[in-house]
Order: sequence, then C-alpha cells, then structure tokens
Amino acid sequence: MHYAIETEKITKEFGDITAVNNISIKVEPGELFGLLGPNGAGKTTLINMLSTMSDPSSGSAKVWGFDVQRDASAVRQNIGIVFQDTTLDDRLTGRENLDLHGRLYGMDGKTRRKRIEEVLSLVELADRADAIVKTYSGGMMRRLEIARGLMHHPHVLFLDEPTLGLDPQTRNHIWEYIKTLNREEGVTIVLTTHYMEEADHLCGRIAIIDHGEIVALDTPEALKDRLGGDVITLEAGSPDDIARLCEVYQNNGCANIVSRQKKEIFVTVKEGERQIPHILNLASKAGIPILSVSLRKPTLDDVFLHHTGRAIRDNKEVSEIEQVGYRIRARRK
Ligand SMILES: Nc1ncnc2c1ncn2[C@@H]1O[C@H](COP(=O)(O)OP(=O)(O)O)[C@@H](O)[C@H]1O
Ligand SMILES: [Mg+2]
Repeated sequence: MHYAIETEKITKEFGDITAVNNISIKVEPGELFGLLGPNGAGKTTLINMLSTMSDPSSGSAKVWGFDVQRDASAVRQNIGIVFQDTTLDDRLTGRENLDLHGRLYGMDGKTRRKRIEEVLSLVELADRADAIVKTYSGGMMRRLEIARGLMHHPHVLFLDEPTLGLDPQTRNHIWEYIKTLNREEGVTIVLTTHYMEEADHLCGRIAIIDHGEIVALDTPEALKDRLGGDVITLEAGSPDDIARLCEVYQNNGCANIVSRQKKEIFVTVKEGERQIPHILNLASKAGIPILSVSLRKPTLDDVFLHHTGRAIRDNKEVSEIEQVGYRIRARRK
C-alpha cells in the first residue's frame, strides 16, 4: 500500500532563498492534513512541487504512489488543486468552467454532465450554475473552484489557503464542505493555511512550517498537550524583571516556560486555576512586581510561538523575542 503523499528531503531553492528545506513527510490515504505557517513559510512552493507545477531542486516526492518528476502525468490524473489565487474564467458561467475542466481531463460528454451535477450539489451551487462567474461572491467562487478540483474524481485534493480573505461566516461554510469531502467522499486533503483556527478545526494532523522547514508535526491536540498544561501569561514592568522571573520559575521547577517577550512571559502549568496563587507568590517573594496575569487553554498560536519564537501573525524576526525551551524536569515535580 502506498502513501497519499510521501516526500523525501524535498527542497526548493530560488537563488539564495531556500523556500522549502529538506522536508520529509508521509500522509496516509484519507487524511485531512494541514500545512500551517506564516506568509513566506514555503507552503505554496511545497504544494507546487507536489502538484507537478514545479520541479524540486533536490529530494523527491510521490503522490498516490507516483513520482512527481518521473510520473508527472499520473500524478496529475490523481490530484485536484485549488490554487491560492483564483483561476476561474469569470466571463464563463459556473457550469462552463466545470465543463472546460472536464474536457481538459478527457471526460466524455455524458460523464461530464453527470459529474457536474454531483459536484455542484456538493458545494450547493446548483441554482447559480448558469450565472456568469463575475456575478459570484468570493465564497461562491471558492466553492466553484473546489467543485472544479473534484470534477475528475481525484484521490488527493490540494487546497492552498482555501478561505483566504473570506468573511467568518463564509469560512465556516467552506470548512463544512471540506470536512464533508474528506469524510463522505474519502478524498485525501492537504490544505495550507496561516489561520490557526482553520488548521485546528479541520485537520487531523498538522505540520507547522516556518522558513521552509517543518518545526512540529502531530495532531492539534498532541501539539497543544505537549506544551504542558494551561497557559499563564504574566506581565512585568521591564525585560530585566522578565529575565529574573524566568530564573525564578526555572529554579523552582513549578512551570514550563513556553516563550517570553520583552515584558511578558508565557508559562504552562497543570491545573492553572489552582497554580496561579503559587506562581504569583514566587514572584512576590523574589520582589518582582507583576502588572497583570491571565490564564487560558493553549492554542496553536502558543505552539507556534514555542517552536519559532514568533507569533504567526506578525513577521517580526526572532531577535525581538527570546525563545526559551520548556523544561521536562519542571513537569515531573
Ligand atoms: N518564483 C519564485 N521566485 C523567487 N522566490 C520565490 C518564488 N516563489 C516563492 N518564492 C519565495 O519563497 C518563499 C516561500 O514562498 P511561498 O511558498 O509562496 O510561501 P507561503 O505560501 O508559505 O506564503 C518566500 O520567501 C517567497 O518570496
Ligand atoms: Mg502561499
């Protein structure tokens, strides 16, 4: 049995830039797999190589058992793709866009007509199928593109930033279609996103990608669990105070330090509500004033911050925020 996707040290260089750096991943058939990372992380470049749009600089990849370079046409027969930027012809109707795609894939007229009805109903566009695409909303265009990607019954569907720029309600709708496709049609889906909630909500497993490398890969739950409990954020008056706080908690071993910024520190503890008094007490004993404190469940934002030292939404470089590895010893106490 083959994997849906299997890459071996796949790498892509553009001059001095290594957009994808030595990535080796395996995705099983039927997975809904996410590539989560900020702008410029290398997600689209990876998808382009997997969908035979561009060749790797080194390394290799197989999609549905076929090598992306040696068996490119077999790969194309087995995949559907929804690009980051829309590629619909907006002067044609929805139905005509689908029909054109079917023709490109060599489907005969009868098969095309049947499949067009199926995919239109899947994304609930049947009633607007004969309108010109120019009159569609952003969400409808996205749904039509997903329908088009499914026309030729692909085993693997690539969705590059499927809900980029859509409003929250439309995003929720698209999420439902994606889940249905995966669950009921059994399509393996590989999607890229820089939206934490999207990856968290949809994906069975997530590879967090930063500067072309995978920095963590697991189920969303496992990624969050590994941080070691609830996240307590403490704000102090100066970077010096934060540095001293780090020392206090490290020496005491009562909390895992997930990451720190200039005037804030993020620590995780088991049973956060119960631990807050103890955490504050330690700061007070060391004579470090705490300006504010908050408690929450860990999110994928925390996971990203922990692994990269940066929040996913800002593109600040690591130097601004000093990342501190969390300590296994602390968890044993
Ligand atoms: N055709 C190209 N030529 C030169 N650099 C590129 C090209 N495509 C992408 N890059 C660079 O590769 C890096 C990764 O880009 P991309 O794969 O688009 O990231 P993402 O999809 O995660 O936002 C970026 O630094 C980008 O500027
Ligand atoms: Mg991209």
